[in-house]
Amino acid sequence: MTEKTIHLIDDESIIHDIFRRIFKGDEYKLIISENMSQALANHHPGVDVVIMDLMIPGTSGIEIFKQLVRVDPGIRVIFLTAFGTIESAIEAIKLGAVDYLQKPFNNLELQHRIDRVIKERKVNQENIHLKKTLNQRFSFGNIIGNSHALKQTLNLVENVAATNSTILITGESGTGKELIAKAVFANSNRRNRPFLSFNSSNIPATLFESILFGHRKGSFTGAHADRKGIFDEADGGTIFLDEIANLDNETQSKILRVLQEKEIQPLGENRSHKVDVRIIAATNVDLLEKVKIGAFREDLFYRLNIINIHLPPLRERMEDIPPLAEHFIRKYAEENHREVPGMSAEFLQKLMQYPWPGNIRELENAIQRSVILAPGATLNPEVLPAEIRSAEAASADSNYGDFNDLVNRYKRRLILDALKRNDWVQKRAADDLKIKPTTLSELIKRLDINK
Ligand SMILES: Nc1ncnc2c1ncn2[C@@H]1O[C@H](COP(=O)(O)OP(=O)(O)OP(=O)(O)O)[C@@H](O)[C@H]1O
Ligand SMILES: [Mg+2]
Repeated sequence: MTEKTIHLIDDESIIHDIFRRIFKGDEYKLIISENMSQALANHHPGVDVVIMDLMIPGTSGIEIFKQLVRVDPGIRVIFLTAFGTIESAIEAIKLGAVDYLQKPFNNLELQHRIDRVIKERKVNQENIHLKKTLNQRFSFGNIIGNSHALKQTLNLVENVAATNSTILITGESGTGKELIAKAVFANSNRRNRPFLSFNSSNIPATLFESILFGHRKGSFTGAHADRKGIFDEADGGTIFLDEIANLDNETQSKILRVLQEKEIQPLGENRSHKVDVRIIAATNVDLLEKVKIGAFREDLFYRLNIINIHLPPLRERMEDIPPLAEHFIRKYAEENHREVPGMSAEFLQKLMQYPWPGNIRELENAIQRSVILAPGATLNPEVLPAEIRSAEAASADSNYGDFNDLVNRYKRRLILDALKRNDWVQKRAADDLKIKPTTLSELIKRLDINK
């Protein structure tokens, strides 16, 4: 039987003892961390499941979780919660934890839940592997939108994915930089190799080097064992360097060195060795501006910026709002076991009037909230957060016209796309759109669509 690796993050030694008792023997490998820095130093993507206390002195389980997700996006976490802290457990589930268990827990129950999560993970891994080998074509399945800007972006992704070129993805917060990074990866020749993320915000700068390049046992206080860095873990694969502008000068130099020499040197090791990684970097600030004021190395900037993929803010591609809203409604209805609600015209109108400073992430959150709060089968503006509900029609220079006009334009576009995809065979286009052929032909007439 393959070994099941469990990472326990908890500061209580009683819990450590319980785990050691339950998960002994060759079947399990148990890693124990007591705080944030140990957790970050000990974790690796081979861990099958993380069990984590929500209350960790000096930080919180959620904070640690957010950090670990960056280095191991496939991470599966079960939270341990004290009695009466159910809200944080819900928060954790929203963030992507797979399960939670209240302390004191029943040992059999604990073991059962852990085994179940590990089993699911193994099945998933097999499926992902299968899918990856089957699906060699370009796929942007989870990227939604019809705007010209997005299509151009996806074209660029398609063109650069197979190259080994370094890529810099720029755009405001929430515009989909990470999603695009993953799309580049998924459509690259490296898709069967690791994709690991590193986000320097919230990680203490003293740990950057160790996390990125690894360390040898004893190379600094607290380095109790050798640790592989992300660059070694991702060898042959892709590293996503998120919020690149936050890197200190020293780390910037080291990354520049990897890009130039394709070599790294773990802390405490006297020789460097070759690694083969592709770097995709992202930033939501104007990096060139940072270069001008001396806060970012110019040479590194040019090395990273070989290909620039810029994601425009949502307010500059409003036509993506309706399909995104529909997508998120379906997603959150399914996740919350609700029947998929529809949107009222007023609801969509509010979405179209709001400027979305937090971009797609803000839209996603607003829809998630609406789906959860909606009392009936239709989403109405009442369930929207106040700032969105009170959004007023854009100023007169807006070129979006009135609401019906907008909806018709959207319908037109959907139909045109479907027709083009299906060589103007109406029956097939109707199937594609999941509407009746008679409905389609009526719409074609009414919206005056022709080849
Ligand atoms: N075109 C899209 N289709 C579907 N979902 C999207 C799209 N763009 C972004 N999202 C979703 O919006 C959320 C934010 O995207 P992402 O995390 O990639 O943004 P980001 O630019 O990295 O943001 P930040 O700068 O805040 O880290 C994610 O949940 C992502 O899946
Ligand atoms: Mg991001």
